[in-house]
Amino acid sequence: MAAVRFEAVSKVYGTDSRALTDFSLDVEDGELVVLVGPSGCGKSTTLRVLAGLEESTSGRVFINDTDITDEAPSKRDIAMVFQNYALYPHMTVFDNMAFSLKMRKLSKEEIKRLVTETADILGISEYLERKPKELSGGQRQRVALGRAIVRHPKVFLFDEPLSNLDAKLRVQMRNELARLHSKLGATMIYVTHDQAEAMTLGDRIVVLKNGFIQQVAQPLEVYNNPCNKFVAGFIGSPAMNFFKTEISEGEILSVNGRLETTGVADGMYTLGVRPEDILVREQGQFTCSVEVVETLGNEKVVIGITGSDEQITARCRPDLDIRPGNELSFDIDMSKTHLFALDGVERKI
Ligand SMILES: Nc1ncnc2c1ncn2[C@@H]1O[C@H](COP(=O)(O)OP(=O)(O)O)[C@@H](O)[C@H]1O
Ligand SMILES: [Mg+2]
Repeated sequence: MAAVRFEAVSKVYGTDSRALTDFSLDVEDGELVVLVGPSGCGKSTTLRVLAGLEESTSGRVFINDTDITDEAPSKRDIAMVFQNYALYPHMTVFDNMAFSLKMRKLSKEEIKRLVTETADILGISEYLERKPKELSGGQRQRVALGRAIVRHPKVFLFDEPLSNLDAKLRVQMRNELARLHSKLGATMIYVTHDQAEAMTLGDRIVVLKNGFIQQVAQPLEVYNNPCNKFVAGFIGSPAMNFFKTEISEGEILSVNGRLETTGVADGMYTLGVRPEDILVREQGQFTCSVEVVETLGNEKVVIGITGSDEQITARCRPDLDIRPGNELSFDIDMSKTHLFALDGVERKI
C-alpha cells in the first residue's frame, strides 16, 4: 500500500537545463496517474527522480509520508517498466522474471511460485524457457511487466512502455494494463506522450509542458474544461480548432452573434471549438472550403479553410457526401466552445 507525494520538486541538468520546475503532486494509494505531454516536457525526469535514478535539484519525494528523497534506489521498493523492455538477452523469461527475487535471496520454491503466478496473470506461462529474442514485441513487453509485478513493489512506474508496439497491439496492451491495475490495485504512475493513452488509462491526468504542470484532473474534466490553450490543443484528437475572435459589447463578432458573453472585456480572443462541435447543416451560419476528407468508416474527418484563412477540422457522419473543393456549410455548438485570452489562459464564457 503506497501513496506518493512530490513536494515542489525541481530538476536542473548541468547548469541551465531546466527539466522540471516546482512539481507538486499527491498520488493516492492504488491510483493510476498518467503524466502526459510532448517529448522533452520532463515526464521521464519525474519518474527517475521518484525512482532515485536522478537526484532532484530541490524539493522532496515521499512514499506514505516517509521522506525518501535521499534513499538509495534499491531501498525505495519501486519497479519501473521502460519502453525498450531492458530485458537480459542471455537469460530465459523465467530467469529474467526471477532475477530481482534471487537478489533478495528468496527460496527456490518461493521464486518458482511467484514467477509462475505472475506468468499466469500475463498469459506468458508457455514462454518461460525462451530467450527474449525468441519473443514478439508484445510478449517481451509482457515479460518486462512480469519482472515488475513479480516483486510486488509499493509503486509501479511506466515510462512509455507501449511506444514500441504497433497500433493494434498498443490498444490491446493498454486494455490489459487497465485490467491489471484493477486486479492488483497498485499505485501506478504512467508516462506517455499519447493523449489517447492518457485519457483511457488515467484515474487522473497530469498535463506537463516545459517542466511545468499545466493541469491535474480526471480525463473528462481535462477534456471538457482545459485550463489553457495548450491543454485544449494537446488533449483530444483531432485537435481542437482555434479561431481568432473579437468580442465587442458582450458578443462574439466573427463567429456567431448569438453568443452572449458575460464578464469578458471587449477585445481579441481565441475561440476553441472541438471538431465534434462543428455541426454540418444544409444552411449553416458558416462555410469553409474543403481541402481534405479522411474516410474512417465510423466517421469522416473534414479539413477545410475558412473565409478568414483559418484551418478548420470537423468530425462528420460517415455517409456525408463531400469532396475536396466542395463547400461545407456548418453551425457551431456554442454551448461547448472555449474562450481563451491571447496569452492562452481559459476565460469562462
Ligand atoms: N541527462 C540529461 N542531461 C541534460 N539534459 C537532460 C538530461 N536528461 C533530460 N534532459 C533534458 O531535460 C528535459 C526533460 O527531459 P525528459 O524528462 O527526458 O522529457 P520527456 O521524458 O518528457 O521526453 C529535456 O529538455 C531534456 O533534453
Ligand atoms: Mg521520456
